[in-house]
Amino acid sequence: MILFGHRGAAGHEPENTVLSVRKGIELGSDWIEVDVFCVKGELIVFHDRTLGRTTNGRGFLMWRSLDYLRSLDAGKGQKIPFLKEVVEALEGRVGLNIELKGPRTAEPVARFLDPYMAGTEVPRILVSSFDHAGLRRFCLLQNRIPVGYLYRKIRIADVTRAREAGAFSLHCALRAIRRPVVLKAHACGMKVFVFTVNEPDDIRRMADMGVDGIFSDYPDRVHRMRLEGRI
Ligand code: G3P
Ligand code: MG
Repeated sequence: MILFGHRGAAGHEPENTVLSVRKGIELGSDWIEVDVFCVKGELIVFHDRTLGRTTNGRGFLMWRSLDYLRSLDAGKGQKIPFLKEVVEALEGRVGLNIELKGPRTAEPVARFLDPYMAGTEVPRILVSSFDHAGLRRFCLLQNRIPVGYLYRKIRIADVTRAREAGAFSLHCALRAIRRPVVLKAHACGMKVFVFTVNEPDDIRRMADMGVDGIFSDYPDRVHRMRLEGRI
């Protein structure tokens, strides 16, 4: 199973910060997942629409100036990062899963990725979203980057629909994933990644179900189970 460090390593460090991304790599993640909004034309790494839960700021993210957002403490003195700062922190050591959040994020992310597409090798980047229309717009602009369709609930019919739309992978909530969905996705040539899997019993269960990857706030737990041959 591929191990995605969820929001970096959100169980250990303030989520979606450079510190968390570095921790996710240190703890054995193969890929790092971050959430991305476009605010005032800049791509920033952040999960919520509001600032209160993870920063010392208040109000709606989209209504605030970039100067204000960058002045905030996102935990342990970390700033809300720009997407480019996260890419730099990866140093090409692991893959990057960019989850599109908020309105009108697909186009600026596609433009952001343009410079990385110049070589013959496709960079290790996966773009995903609950906003499937946004993913379709993204694909029109960047057709070599794989896209993952996110689901909180999923039916078999969604699998074929995602395949027809060109999805590379299905990203399903832990409580929603069932073996028939995994089998159908594999029969259609798609990967299945499950979020957010933190408990050892669930990690084991996902391995037994044959999913292709999991997102975890505690990449170290998954990494250790792999080393011990328990998954
Ligand atoms: O991309 C997987 C997972 O991060 C989706 O849910 O709310 O944690 O962004 P959320
Ligand atoms: Mg996410």
